[in-house]
Amino acid sequence: MQIKKVGVIGCGLMGHGIVQVAAQGGFQVVAFEADAGALQKGLGRIEGSLSKLAGKNVEKGKMTEDQAAEWVRTTRAQIHGSTDMADLKDCDLVVEAIIENLEIKKSLFGELGQLVKDSAIFASNTSSFPIREMAQASGRPDRFVGLHFFNPVQLMRLVEVVRTDKTQPEVFDAARRFGEACGKTAVACKDTPGFVVNRLLVPYMVQAILMLDRGDASKEDIDAAMQFGCGYPMGPLTLTDYVGLDTTLAILEGWVENYPDEPAFKIPASLREKVRAGKLGRKTGEGYYKWEGDKKQ
Ligand code: 3HC
Repeated sequence: MQIKKVGVIGCGLMGHGIVQVAAQGGFQVVAFEADAGALQKGLGRIEGSLSKLAGKNVEKGKMTEDQAAEWVRTTRAQIHGSTDMADLKDCDLVVEAIIENLEIKKSLFGELGQLVKDSAIFASNTSSFPIREMAQASGRPDRFVGLHFFNPVQLMRLVEVVRTDKTQPEVFDAARRFGEACGKTAVACKDTPGFVVNRLLVPYMVQAILMLDRGDASKEDIDAAMQFGCGYPMGPLTLTDYVGLDTTLAILEGWVENYPDEPAFKIPASLREKVRAGKLGRKTGEGYYKWEGDKKQ
């Protein structure tokens, strides 16, 4: 089972990064977005990221200026932006990276199941929804996996490859090889809430928010504690802003509904309030912190 052509649905925070690392891995990529403006924005982010990475490679002496320019050109040439879903028809793998809403994802996979060639593998980049439900909706549960990348996709070195009871072993292996070809370390996980990373990470972020809500410590001190006490690259409240408060809330709401007796799954009041007020973190300029572009104020 050889993957050559990959479709990525959604060119937002996660999708644009997946498009980029797949192109860097040598795959032909169709970057699909229903909205032309959103597609342009995503492709623009890829341009920005490629030139940053090219610059870094030159700085570190890994590439000459000419090699870096050639690398940007060849990577860019692998990417075909599209607002026409029919362009996904002959992809060998289609990775979904749209909004965290299970019903919307299921309906999308229902449509893709009709459209895309039968031999193609489907994958979802969901943070926390059950892979089996989307697999069922696609009509090809044996050719379905989770491929969970991390933000920022270009820099984070992990991909979780998630299998259900119905995923064929060769489909799982092909998905794993794809993740590795994108430059990631691939870990295998069963279809469980939050897989490995979010099952550990989200309850940790929740505890930090609850600590702040109780007034135990300031947000700056909570973040400094984990950054300098544990060597984490960013503290939990900065990370919540980075991930997006809406995404964090969506993950928790799904878990609380499905696992009401799990004490690690709680929704802090301030998280709900901020999402209601449109303070979604870095992407809207305010969450637990204020942001100016990529920089925390
Ligand atoms: N492409 C290319 N370069 C990028 C980039 C991108 N997308 N994003 C950042 N960079 C560059 C920056 O421009 C910067 O370059 P410079 O040194 O020339 O200024 C360099 O990378 C380092 O970035 P920063 O100076 O902003 O800061 P850091 O040294 O802290 O690195 C970080 C940034 C890699 C994001 C680091 O802080 C980190 O690892 N943070 C933790 C992130 C994390 O935990 N992610 C997982 C979230 S959970 C998730 O995604 C799952 C989901 O389902 C919820």
